[in-house]
Amino acid sequence: MCTLRGGAAVVSFLLGTFPALCQKPKSEAVERGRKLFQSACGFCHGNDATGSRGPDLIRSALVNHDKDGNLIGPVVKNGRVEKDMPAFAYNNSQISDLAAFLHDQTQVALHSASVPRDYPLEKLLTGDASAGKAYFFGAGHCDTCHSPTGDLAGIAKKYTPINLEARFLYPGGTRRMVTVTLPSGQQVSGTLAQMDEFNVALRDGTGWYRSWPRDRVKVEVRDPMEKHLDLLHQYTDANVHDIFAYLETLK
Ligand code: HEC
Ligand code: HEC
Repeated sequence: MCTLRGGAAVVSFLLGTFPALCQKPKSEAVERGRKLFQSACGFCHGNDATGSRGPDLIRSALVNHDKDGNLIGPVVKNGRVEKDMPAFAYNNSQISDLAAFLHDQTQVALHSASVPRDYPLEKLLTGDASAGKAYFFGAGHCDTCHSPTGDLAGIAKKYTPINLEARFLYPGGTRRMVTVTLPSGQQVSGTLAQMDEFNVALRDGTGWYRSWPRDRVKVEVRDPMEKHLDLLHQYTDANVHDIFAYLETLK
């Protein structure tokens, strides 16, 4: 038995070429790994892992010596933060899928004369700013933490285009989000401005500064990467280009 994607199967059936096109399907782990890799890693390593801003992984000695994620896993989980490789809190089965995909790509490279290079950067400026704005205030819920006239005002002047893209996909930085629950049960969220044993203070999306005595409220601090890593799995390519086009208007 073999499986083909719907469209291809119909076309080849009509053309009578079904047996000729019938290839061994890739394992499910490779396909899961491909999806995860393209959403989380492709921007830096290229969707086909041949490198872009980050190094080529199919010619990496580390990847070639890896067995089921034993070497790739630590790099992904810890990152190499000082060298611009962020850390990802992935579990062992996700690591194993990523490894399966990378090993498969290495095999593909070994058996073909040339591996097509993938340069997502060329596609950077093809988005639609108004669709990006709608996403910012709609499906993306970016406005729960950011404001184009507050913390993101002038963001396009602050970074070069490629760095701006990298910042919104993988913000590093030290700013942390905090949610404060008041005695009444009301919750206020924003960027942590200050916290010591007596007080906690935040700045909300509109830039407003508020502080409370710590013993009166419940405080929950979150890693800035958390939400952005979730978002990586939600964006379509079009979303990324549209958001980027919108952020570029914030001069
Ligand atoms: C923001 C850019 C960026 C992202 C996103 C990124 N990487 Fe990296 N990665 C890098 C850079 C830069 C290096 C090289 C670090 C160094 O010089 O040690 C690297 C190194 C690596 C290495 C080590 C290669 C070697 O030969 O030492 C592996 C494996 C790797 N990345 C896998 C991944 C995987 C898997 C993902 C997605 C889960 C990912 N990376 C996401 C930038 C990135
Ligand atoms: C749960 C809160 C949260 C949500 C939702 C969120 N972000 Fe962020 N974002 C952060 C935090 C925290 C940082 C880190 C800021 C820093 O370190 O200066 C950040 C950083 C950024 C940066 C880089 C800012 C800088 O000055 O370097 C951009 C751009 C950005 N986010 C855009 C977005 C967009 C676009 C969305 C929606 C698709 C979004 N964010 C959704 C919390 C959030």
